Amino acid sequence: MSPETQESQKKYTYIQSDIGKGKGVYISTYGCQMNVNDTERMYALLDMVNYTPVTTPEEASLILVNSCSIREKPVHKVYSEVGHYRKLKEKNPELRIGVGGCVGSQEKENLIKNQPIIDFVFGTDNIDELPSLVMKSLETDLQGLRPSEKEKFVEAGFKHRAPYHVETLITNPGVAAFVNITKGCDNFCSFCVVPYTRGREKSRPLKDILEDVQKLIARGVKEVTLLGQNVNSYKSDCGADLADLLETLATQTTLLRIRFTTSHPKDFNQKLVDVMYRNQPQVCEYVHLPFQAGSSRVLSAMNRGYTRDEYREKIAMIKKAIPNVVLSTDIIVGFPGETEEEFQETLSLLEEIEFETIFAFSYSSRPMTKAARMPGHLSEEIKSERLSRLFAKHEAFAFEKAKKYEGQILDVLVENWDEQRKVLTGRSSQNKVVHIEGGTQSLVGSVVKAKITSAKPATLRGTLEGVTS
Ligand code: 5AD
Ligand code: SF4
Repeated sequence: MSPETQESQKKYTYIQSDIGKGKGVYISTYGCQMNVNDTERMYALLDMVNYTPVTTPEEASLILVNSCSIREKPVHKVYSEVGHYRKLKEKNPELRIGVGGCVGSQEKENLIKNQPIIDFVFGTDNIDELPSLVMKSLETDLQGLRPSEKEKFVEAGFKHRAPYHVETLITNPGVAAFVNITKGCDNFCSFCVVPYTRGREKSRPLKDILEDVQKLIARGVKEVTLLGQNVNSYKSDCGADLADLLETLATQTTLLRIRFTTSHPKDFNQKLVDVMYRNQPQVCEYVHLPFQAGSSRVLSAMNRGYTRDEYREKIAMIKKAIPNVVLSTDIIVGFPGETEEEFQETLSLLEEIEFETIFAFSYSSRPMTKAARMPGHLSEEIKSERLSRLFAKHEAFAFEKAKKYEGQILDVLVENWDEQRKVLTGRSSQNKVVHIEGGTQSLVGSVVKAKITSAKPATLRGTLEGVTS
C-alpha cells in the first residue's frame, strides 16, 4: 500500500483485507471529469486492499468499467467493451468484471441480463463500498462454487439521507487535482439523465473541503478544480456559497490556482464575479458556461431557467469584471422540435460570444427524461448535419482567435516534463495548454513565464522567459 493511502485508510477502517495482493486492477473510464475523478477514487480505494493498477485488461484480475450515461453512445460502448472480455473470462474464471458509475445507476440489473459475464454492478453512491463489493464477489470462490453458480449482484441505490462526506482520494496526486464539492443535481433539465443517475444535489461542508485541500497541498498539489454538476448552487451547512468557498481557498491556503466547473447560467451571479476578480491570480480567468441552445423557446423547453438575452447579460457581466476571461460552453443541437431558424439562433449566439472552446453534442434521447416524451424528435441525419455546421462555424473563427496569443507572455503552471523532447507542459490561467521549450524538470509545480511562438485552438507553443513562483 502506498504511504499516501495509509493516511486515508484511517478514515476507511472498515476495509481490512489484502484481497488484492498480487493482483492487478484495470479500470476503463467513459465520460466527464466527475467520472475521471471517480475512477481515481476507485483506484485509491482498491489500493487500500492491495490491488495494483495495470495498464491492460489482459494483466488484470479485476476489470471495472466506469461509464457515464449522459448520451446513448457511452452505454453502447460499455456493452461492446465488456463483450471483448469474454475470452479473458473463459481463460480465467477468477477474473471479476464490475460495471459502475452513472451507467450502473441507470441500467442496474439490465446490464447483467444483457451481458451475463458481468459479475456485479454498482451505482454512483456505492463507490466507497467497492472493496467490500469485490470481496463479496470473490466469496463465491471461497465457498468453492463453480463459475456458473456464482452470485451476481447489483448495488445501485441512492443514499438519500446520508450527508455528503467524501474525502478526496488520489493515490499519487500530480500538480493539479479535482475536488468534488457537490454531488447530484436538482435542476432537471428536460434532456438530462444526471438527476436520475447521480441523485439529489448535496454539498460538502466548507470546513471539510478546506481540510481536504490542505492535505492535498501537503502532498504537492498546487491547483484544484472544484467539481460539481452545478457548482453555482453549492451551499455549505454553514451557509457559505461558491463565492465564499473560492474566497476562503484563495485567502486561507497556498494554492496557486483555483478553478471550478460546471457553472449554470441561471445561478452565476455578481457576487461570484466580484470574488473572482478580487482573488486573481489564484482564481483563474476561465469560465465554462454551457448555453445549450440559442433560442429562448428551446431553452424553455429544456427547462434551463434562462432566456437567450439573460445568458448574454451573464456573459457581459463576466467580461466586464474580467476582460481577459476565456469562455467555453456546451451546446446541444437537434433538441426535439428544434427548427432550422432556432438552430440558426444557436449559430448566431456562438458567433457573437466567440467561445474559445466548445463541447457540442447531438441530442440523445435518455430514459426517464421529460424530453424523451416530447413530440418532434429529429432524424439522426438532421442532427448530425447541424452538428457539422456548428463545428465548422466554430473552427472558422477559433484558429483566427488563437493567433492573438502569438507574441504574448503567459503565466503557466507547469504540470509535466517530457524527458525525451525536453519540453514542459502546463496550462495558463485561461486553461490553455502550453508546451514550453527551454526549461528543466525542476520547474514542474512552478508558475513560469512563457513567450508564445505559435498558437492553435487546442494548444500553444512557447519558450521559457522566467519563473513567477
Ligand atoms: N443529449 C445530448 N447532450 C446532452 N448533454 C446532457 N444531456 C444530453 C443529452 N440527452 C450535454 C449537455 C451537458 C453536457 C455535459 O452534456 O450539453 O452540458
Ligand atoms: Fe443535467 Fe441540467 Fe443538472 Fe447539468 S444542470 S447536470 S444539464 S440536469
